[in-house]
Amino acid sequence: MKKFFIQTFGCQMNVYDGQRIATLLESHGFISTDNIADADIIILNTCAVREKATNKVYSALGRIRAAKKPDALFGIVGCVARESGADAFRRIPELNFVLGPQSYHKLPEILSDPDTKLFNIDLGGLEKFDSMPRPAISPAVAYIPIQEGCNHCCTYCIVPHTRGREISRSPQSVMHDVTHAAETGAVEICFLGQNVNGYNFVDDTGISHRLSELIRETAKIDAVQRIRFTSSYPTEMTDDLIEIFGTEPKLLPFLNMPIQSGSPNVLTKMNRPYSLDLYIDIVNKLRHVRPDIQISSDFIVGFPGETDDDFEQTMDIAKRIRYINSYSFKYSPRPHTAAAVMPNQIPESVKANRLAKLDSCLNEIQREFNESCIDKTFLCLCDGPDKTGRHLVYRTPYMQQCIVNMPDDNTYPTLANIRITAANKASLRGEFTDK
Ligand code: SAH
Ligand code: F3S
Repeated sequence: MKKFFIQTFGCQMNVYDGQRIATLLESHGFISTDNIADADIIILNTCAVREKATNKVYSALGRIRAAKKPDALFGIVGCVARESGADAFRRIPELNFVLGPQSYHKLPEILSDPDTKLFNIDLGGLEKFDSMPRPAISPAVAYIPIQEGCNHCCTYCIVPHTRGREISRSPQSVMHDVTHAAETGAVEICFLGQNVNGYNFVDDTGISHRLSELIRETAKIDAVQRIRFTSSYPTEMTDDLIEIFGTEPKLLPFLNMPIQSGSPNVLTKMNRPYSLDLYIDIVNKLRHVRPDIQISSDFIVGFPGETDDDFEQTMDIAKRIRYINSYSFKYSPRPHTAAAVMPNQIPESVKANRLAKLDSCLNEIQREFNESCIDKTFLCLCDGPDKTGRHLVYRTPYMQQCIVNMPDDNTYPTLANIRITAANKASLRGEFTDK
């Protein structure tokens, strides 16, 4: 049996891409292996969003080069492939293929002709979504991309370069995936996109199809019990989308809507042209229609020119919105981006201090929120047993991790009502309840 090894870095979209590649290889008779030395084809599915992510890829490439069978096919796909281009072959001459995030459906070409070097980093196609085999069994949470690329062009972000301009899939094609996932085991659907709430498919008759419509259609499917979407751009939270949080109970009361910074000056330099008032107004509208909604954000600290005062404004907004489950990053200069050549780059030590301060503030808010969940009951979704096999890991509607003892008979429901019994900043403990 031929074997494949695939390692995925980065965002949920990459995790999805990795699953599609695995299914494609399985349909060509390959089976998965965790052992590089055993593999006949080795794929790194890569992320370029921060320098650290790119470095991780190149160090993994070095390790693989030393461990792989001499005749194994070896390649990179995803954002580093797109960013490095043909230069990747110069850095790692053993590479057989370099395929960008929208070209990995071309992989079979290298299987039929292993002596060529396969290179394609084109953008602009949705071909990969519909031209590849779907998995026979869906995981309980099915990630379904509805659009790819981003038109926002934040000055720090490499994504518009690596994933291109926004393109939305047709509702038919999306719903085909949703139905297939629901029929083969999915109970939660998570719609994905770099700018997911910007989803806009204009059909032949000129009618515009939006994310709210996909949510409404998906909610009609009995097997689907939970719906969410990520990642949202604040000003694309249109009224139809806000309203559906109030009318569709299957839509989880949790929204990732990155603000990035609390300073209007920094937001302008980031090319994120919304005011704090507008952002807060959107949050208030969401809380009005769905009082139990919680918001999470991504933050960047140490953007070029960020002063202590700018940073304090980020701390203020974090406390004011009371974000849960957020991500924070030190600004990382990226190729092909405007911010990388801006003056007043911030020293690493200042970035590190600010990040530590922000993280401790976010952790404190998270701990308080987690504690406020004690004695509440949530419908939770099972991720599976932990490493010891003695506990189960569930996800609450707010994506908190909740640990429950494994029942004596080792059987457990995928979806269960769980009463929260204890909490700390990282996770919850709970027990099954009839409600
Ligand atoms: N909306 C996108 C976000 C892409 S990147 C998506 O979900 O795919 C994810 C996060 O990484 C961003 O929200 C931002 O906070 C962070 N990020 C992007 N570029 C960065 C950079 N150059 N340095 C540090 N963080 C960055
Ligand atoms: Fe990147 Fe900004 Fe789009 S963070 S993905 S350019 S919304």
